[in-house]
Amino acid sequence: MAAVLAPSILSADFARLGADVKETEAGGAALIHVDVMDGHFVPNITIGSGVTKALRKVTDLPLDCHLMISEPDRHVDDFIAAGADMISVHVEAATHLHRTVHRIRDGGVKAGVVLNPSTPLSALDEILGDVDFVLLMSVNPGFGGQKLIPSVLQKARALRQRLDLEAPDVRLEIDGGVTVDNVTEVAACGIDMIVTGSAVFGSGDIRGTTERMVRQLAELAERERTC
Ligand code: DX5
Ligand code: ZN
Repeated sequence: MAAVLAPSILSADFARLGADVKETEAGGAALIHVDVMDGHFVPNITIGSGVTKALRKVTDLPLDCHLMISEPDRHVDDFIAAGADMISVHVEAATHLHRTVHRIRDGGVKAGVVLNPSTPLSALDEILGDVDFVLLMSVNPGFGGQKLIPSVLQKARALRQRLDLEAPDVRLEIDGGVTVDNVTEVAACGIDMIVTGSAVFGSGDIRGTTERMVRQLAELAERERTC
């Protein structure tokens, strides 16, 4: 099964966000990754549930809301009401992670937990059985256009092995520094969902770059199927 592409709107043109999202949709994107930042958990401030609600009106693609915020419990209900299909919260930010994950799921939304690059996989020990997906940060959260941290690829391979053994229904997502030059190597680590922002929205050809990365993922899956 080919990994799917989740363009991150962080690097989109916020003055034409709906049009940019439609371009990625036309290019074969499977999800829209919505980067929510509060300027407290991460240095940057981006968007809130209001923009998610607006995006809900322009695309039928699943909205994958990545909450890079402190005290996510205070905002989860707003993103559920805004039409999020997936909500992920940082293990580093959620004091009552089990309660937060179940609050997301009780809202009929897929629940994910996010690990920063330096957070070990052991942070998943008591929550892996409660989530729908795990998001591994391959950059330090807060900004688009950063370089992928190579050590996270080994972490991703280790998590893939653990999921295959313990939690085969839990999907694996990676986020940060994925480009046309490394997307195949990243996907080959056993990733299910790949977030990419500046590579797509900064390319000058949103639809064409999305199509190219989706094609790269399909070609990898075909090679893996036939080998
Ligand atoms: C960073 C965000 C990522 C980022 C990815 O904090 O979580 O989703 O936007 O952007 P690129 O692909 O440019 O690294
Ligand atoms: Zn993100």
